[in-house]
Amino acid sequence: MKKTRKGIILAGGIGSRLHPLTRVISKQLLPIFDKPMIYYPLSTLMLAEIKEIAIISTPLDLPKFKKLLGSGKKWGLKLTYLEQKKPNGIAEAFILAEKFIKDSPCCLILGDNIYHGNNFSKILKEADNDYENSTVFTHQVKDPERFGILNLDNKGRPAQIIEKPKSPKSNLAITGLYFFPKDVCSKAKKLKPSKRGELEISDLNQSYIKDKKLKVKMLNRGFTWLDTGTFDSLLEASNFISLVQNRQNTIVACPEEIAFLNKWINKSDIKKAIKDMQSTYGEYLKNLIK
Ligand code: DAU
Repeated sequence: MKKTRKGIILAGGIGSRLHPLTRVISKQLLPIFDKPMIYYPLSTLMLAEIKEIAIISTPLDLPKFKKLLGSGKKWGLKLTYLEQKKPNGIAEAFILAEKFIKDSPCCLILGDNIYHGNNFSKILKEADNDYENSTVFTHQVKDPERFGILNLDNKGRPAQIIEKPKSPKSNLAITGLYFFPKDVCSKAKKLKPSKRGELEISDLNQSYIKDKKLKVKMLNRGFTWLDTGTFDSLLEASNFISLVQNRQNTIVACPEEIAFLNKWINKSDIKKAIKDMQSTYGEYLKNLIK
């Protein structure tokens, strides 16, 4: 029987690569043009029609996420909040969220990853429908040293994933969105910390390669994937979103719109949402229900 997939947004870390910008505010709450960064990964999970989502962040930042997103009811979601006391690695998410995941398949997205492109919902649903395998998404990058990199064998099958390789053999970055089957928690618990002391998501993915259970979807050139790990990439992401929205008169990653189109909320919910919004975002929602 089909089990409903649970979602996780990992939004912790100390943001030291963006200091002093992130000294008093969590990186994933910084603005990307007209909305907080976390709206983007949240919208991605909503496009995959995932309604039960855990937000993992530091004890200090978690209350701010709660204040922003609440129970999730306003968007037809059920949100759970979990603490990560120290940044012990991305794969620790599956240990912290074990009770939340229970025996469901699961999708993890990093709180600082932004996806935008044609047919994205379809791509996500294909991954969601595969309950036996894990799925990762790759994108070509010019600076492979900064990412988890996928090497293929001579038949084009996934062979090896190397986290931040010093001498990269490929430029296929594994992006921060991962679909896993229900065995993910038990696999995460078997991981050993890496040299930098973290439970690495790349090691977890490597264990699925070993079992021949890792599927790779390559996001093509027409697709935009942004991670926001540096000052420049943060500004570029804002500029990109502003450009797309202003040219097309749409809003990228608008949870109210996705929830409305998914029929999780109705017009009166949107009316409630825009009550105290005097922004172009609010205007957009007003037009949506006209
Ligand atoms: O963006 C894609 C890349 O994300 C992948 O290609 C890499 O394989 C993956 O390791 C990751 O690399 P990063 O260098 O971006 O990882 P970073 O340590 O910056 O963590 C990514 C986000 O996850 C960041 O917003 C903070 C959060 N995080 C990270 C760790 C290690 C946590 O919330 N807790 C943690 O323990």
